[in-house]
Amino acid sequence: MIIFKKTILALTGLFICIFLVAHLGANFLLLLPHETARTCYNAYSAALRSNPFITIIAYINYLCIIFHVIYAILVTVKNNKSRNEHYEMNRSSENSSWTSQNMLLLGFLILGFIIIHMANFWYKVKILHQEDDLYQMVFDLFHEPLYLIIYVAAAIPIGLHLSHGVQSAFKTLGLYHHKYIRWIAKFSVMFAWITGLGFAIIPIVVYFR
Ligand code: HEM
Repeated sequence: MIIFKKTILALTGLFICIFLVAHLGANFLLLLPHETARTCYNAYSAALRSNPFITIIAYINYLCIIFHVIYAILVTVKNNKSRNEHYEMNRSSENSSWTSQNMLLLGFLILGFIIIHMANFWYKVKILHQEDDLYQMVFDLFHEPLYLIIYVAAAIPIGLHLSHGVQSAFKTLGLYHHKYIRWIAKFSVMFAWITGLGFAIIPIVVYFR
């Protein structure tokens, strides 16, 4: 049963990673010069909203986030129980990193960020239909120092969570042959750095515009 739970955790996590890559790529449009960024970002978001395929992917993504949180809690509770039962055999605190032991905490920090983020954009666009100038909405938000700090700081738990989560997901899915261990670990850390730095740089560049 734990294998099933970990597989759901891995698959939903990897789907969210694919969303993150697409989301980061799209948000890099914000780095273009001011007026070009406005035109491109607004055109991109209008194109997304009018595409039914993207709407389906968005709903799959919401479900993945919900299941990822639920199964992360279930797997952590189960791991903690068996760690207490077999403490002497396991001793995981001696040979695993701080990140790997605090994935749930990091996940909750990210969830907190996502809730704030949804209130900032998703709620205004999807519920209040304030969708005329999304670029201006992002621009105004990142000129508020509190949100600038929140968005830049969020990159830390995101980077840490990804650096362990991606390699752990591959391991769960059985793609962790000893020949590839080093490469998968390197790929995970590189992916985490690119994603974390990417999401941190955008608000800073927009703030200083
Ligand atoms: C520079 C940082 C970011 C910017 C400017 C940004 C911008 C946006 C905008 C404008 C939307 C609403 C799009 C729409 O409904 O048309 C959105 C949605 C969303 N963002 Fe972000 N985002 C950023 C970082 C992140 C991060 C780090 C995460 C995850 C950890 C994230 C997760 C989401 C999710 C899950 C949605 C909902 C997607 C959907 O409804 O399809 N975003 N973002």
